[in-house]
Amino acid sequence: MIKIEIRDLSHSKECDAFMMPVFKGEEGSARAKDLADKKKGYLRLVNDPEIGNILLVWLGRKVDATGLFIKETFATALGHMSSIGAKRIGLICTESFLKNGGLDDSLEGMILSSYSFDKHKSAKDKAPYLYIITKTSKQKAEASKRTERTIAWASAVLKIRDHVNEPSNILTPNEMKKRASKVAQLKNVKMKVIEGRELEKERLNAIRAVGSGSKTGAKLICLEYSPAAAKRKVALIGKGVTFDTGGYSLKPPRHMLGMKGDMLGSAIVMSLIEHAANSSAKIKLMGFMPLAENMISSSAYKPEDIIRTHSGKTVEVENTDAEGRLLLADTLSYCKRYKPDEIVDVATLSGSCHLALGEFICPFVSNNESMAHRLERSSELTGEKFLRLPLMKDYLRFLKSSVADIKNISFGSGGSLITSSIFLSEFVGDSPWLHIDLAGGDFQSGSVSPIFPKGSSGFGIKTLMSYLGLI
Ligand code: BES
Ligand code: ZN
Ligand code: ZN
Repeated sequence: MIKIEIRDLSHSKECDAFMMPVFKGEEGSARAKDLADKKKGYLRLVNDPEIGNILLVWLGRKVDATGLFIKETFATALGHMSSIGAKRIGLICTESFLKNGGLDDSLEGMILSSYSFDKHKSAKDKAPYLYIITKTSKQKAEASKRTERTIAWASAVLKIRDHVNEPSNILTPNEMKKRASKVAQLKNVKMKVIEGRELEKERLNAIRAVGSGSKTGAKLICLEYSPAAAKRKVALIGKGVTFDTGGYSLKPPRHMLGMKGDMLGSAIVMSLIEHAANSSAKIKLMGFMPLAENMISSSAYKPEDIIRTHSGKTVEVENTDAEGRLLLADTLSYCKRYKPDEIVDVATLSGSCHLALGEFICPFVSNNESMAHRLERSSELTGEKFLRLPLMKDYLRFLKSSVADIKNISFGSGGSLITSSIFLSEFVGDSPWLHIDLAGGDFQSGSVSPIFPKGSSGFGIKTLMSYLGLI
C-alpha cells in the first residue's frame, strides 16, 4: 500500500512528481486551458521547469464527478506516476477537491489499487510515498482528518483481502483462531472458541458435519467487542469455509479456483471487530465465525445424511457443496441466546450471485424494513450497489424433504439465490435480520477495475461498515 503523509506547500521540494486534480471552471493555467475538450478522466503530463513533472487529472464538471469515477481515475493516475518512475508523489489538494470529498475518494482509489498480495513472493514492489500538499493550516487540518479516516477503514479492507488471498494450506481454521486471538487482545474485546467435543455438547451438529471431512476440525469462534457506551447490539455472522472442495458433491476443477476465499465472511467479521476496537466505536458487536474446511475423507459428511441442527430442526443434506447455509443455520440459532438487537450475516453463499448480477451488485434479503432501508442508505452513501431480493416464503416448498424437516438445496436449479435465503430464514425466526451474499463481487480476475487488483476485492465491505457506523 502507498504510504501517505500530509505536507505543506513549502515541503513540495521533496516530491519527484505531482498530481493535480482539475475540475471544469478551474482550468486556470495556460497548460490546462484546453482540457475542457477532453473526455473526463484524461491525464496530461506537463513539465514545469521550476516545479518538475505535473500530471493534470481532468475531472470535468463537478456535478458529474461521481465517487467511483474519482476513485478509478486516481487509481489509474497513480499507475501512471509509477510508470514514469515517481517514488515521492505530491498530490496537490485544492480547496474544492478537499471540500467535495475528492480527496477522500482519490485516496480510497489509490489505497485500494496499490494493494498487492506479495507476502509469499521473494521480490516485492516498493510502495511509493504520497504527500498530500495543502496551502493553509486550516486545509491541512481538514486534509489530515479525512486522510486518517480513509486510511483507517481502507486498511481494514486490505487486511480482509490479505486473509482471503491467503491459501488454505496456511489459512486453516486453526490459523483463523490464531489471528482472532490477536484481535482479542485489543481493549474491550473478548474471545470464546467452541471446538472439538464442545461443538457436540452445544449441539452445533451442522458446523461439525461440514468440518467432519478435515483433520483441521470445525470451530465456532465468538469475538465480542463491548464498549461501555454502546447503544446498539449487533450480532455479525460470517461464513468461514477455509476451502470449499464441494465435499462429496465435488466441484469441477474450474469452480474450485477461488474457493480459498470462501471464508470472506469470517474475515470481514474479524476485521470489523478489530477496526471497531481500534477506533473505539460505540456499538456492541458480537462476531460469530463458524469455521470449517469442506473436504472429502472417510469421516466426511455425505449426500443424504440427516443432521439434527442446533435449532432442533433436522436437515437432509442433498448436496455437500451447499455447506455455507449449514454453518450459518447453526450459528444463526446459536447467536440468539445473546439477544442481539439485529443479526447481520455475510457469506459467499451462492455462485448464482455472479451469474445473475455480476461483479458490482450485491444481493441481500431482510425480514426487517428498517434494517433494509438503512442498508440501502449506506449503499447510496458508499456508491456500492446493493439490491434487495424478496424473501419469498412461498419458495419454502422447494426445500421440502421427505425424510427430514428441510433439505439444504432446492430441487431444480432455479431461484437458488432466494431459496438459500429462505433456508437461512428458517433458523432466524422473528429476529431482525439481514443476509448479504458476497459470492458475486469478491473474486476479481484483475482487469475489471483499477481499484480491484487480481484476487479478493472487498467489494461491499465499505457499505457494511457504514451501516454499522464504523466509517
Ligand atoms: N462457496 C460456494 C459459493 C461460491 C461460488 C462462492 C462461487 C464464490 C464463488 C458455495 O458453498 C456453493 O458451493 N454453492 C453452491 C450451492 C448449490 C450446490 C446449491 C453453488 O452456488 O453452486
Ligand atoms: Zn459449497
Ligand atoms: Zn462455500
